[in-house]
Amino acid sequence: MDLQGTTAIVTGGASGIGAGSARALAAKGATVFVADLNADAGEELAAEIGGVFAQLDVTDTEQITRVVEAAAEVAPLKSVVNSAGIANAIRTIGRDGTIDSAFPLAKFEAVVRVNLLGTFDMVRQAATVMSRNEPDAGGQRGAIVNMASVAAFDGQIGQVAYSASKGGIVGMTLPLARDLSTAGIRVNTIAPGLIDTPIYNSFPNPEEFKAQLGQSVLFPKRLGAPEELASMVVELITNDYMNGETIRVDGGIRLPPK
Ligand code: NAI
Repeated sequence: MDLQGTTAIVTGGASGIGAGSARALAAKGATVFVADLNADAGEELAAEIGGVFAQLDVTDTEQITRVVEAAAEVAPLKSVVNSAGIANAIRTIGRDGTIDSAFPLAKFEAVVRVNLLGTFDMVRQAATVMSRNEPDAGGQRGAIVNMASVAAFDGQIGQVAYSASKGGIVGMTLPLARDLSTAGIRVNTIAPGLIDTPIYNSFPNPEEFKAQLGQSVLFPKRLGAPEELASMVVELITNDYMNGETIRVDGGIRLPPK
């Protein structure tokens, strides 16, 4: 699929994998809507890549409507990357035998709301707008990439909410691709391994922590770079024969229990 003269939306586009994807799609000729909660970083990136910053909380359905319609007004919306995501680390039960110390349901719901519902809401609205596009010579109107995680398959201790949300993304990939096939829209999912993004900045010694984490990767023994993820995003969007698939981009890592 050719991205020249089209718009793209990248949720979570202000940081990490989303920012790498936004840069790569802009390099392919798309006008990228960097859709994120973080206005400072989002505006800076949008200026760098000649894109547009769109303030977006993916849990707010009306904000999603505004972003997809704004993108379609500039040029046909042909690609969407859902990279906005959050995580928490909480065990299912506490140590003291009280029900009060079990995983708080609201915290489970918060992760599912952003990662799974936010992704689906963007897909259903963006695909609706894409379905109005003129099809290309191959009958194609758009392509969508969702960001899951290897935690969808090998979730670690404390990752139950995160893994459930990412497993939901993996599970909906094929039925979404089937639903959207009649509109000529492809859907694929990436399951990243350990990627070097600002998500590790909250740890006490991030560089040391990341170097240690890198040792658990099969090969190469390091974290992945956002550009290595963005390369797969571009492949899944531009290769017309990729559809309904989830691809791990993870250096061969299989996460241990903890
Ligand atoms: P990041 O933390 O660098 O970037 C995430 C972006 O999402 C931030 O700019 C944040 O402002 C935005 N965001 C968060 N909640 C939002 C909301 N409600 N609405 C709109 N934007 C929101 O994270 P990173 O590492 O780039 O992760 C991107 C995606 O890849 C996430 O879905 C994450 O779960 C997934 N992933 C990341 C891995 C890693 O090792 N970095 C591993 C596996 C999956």
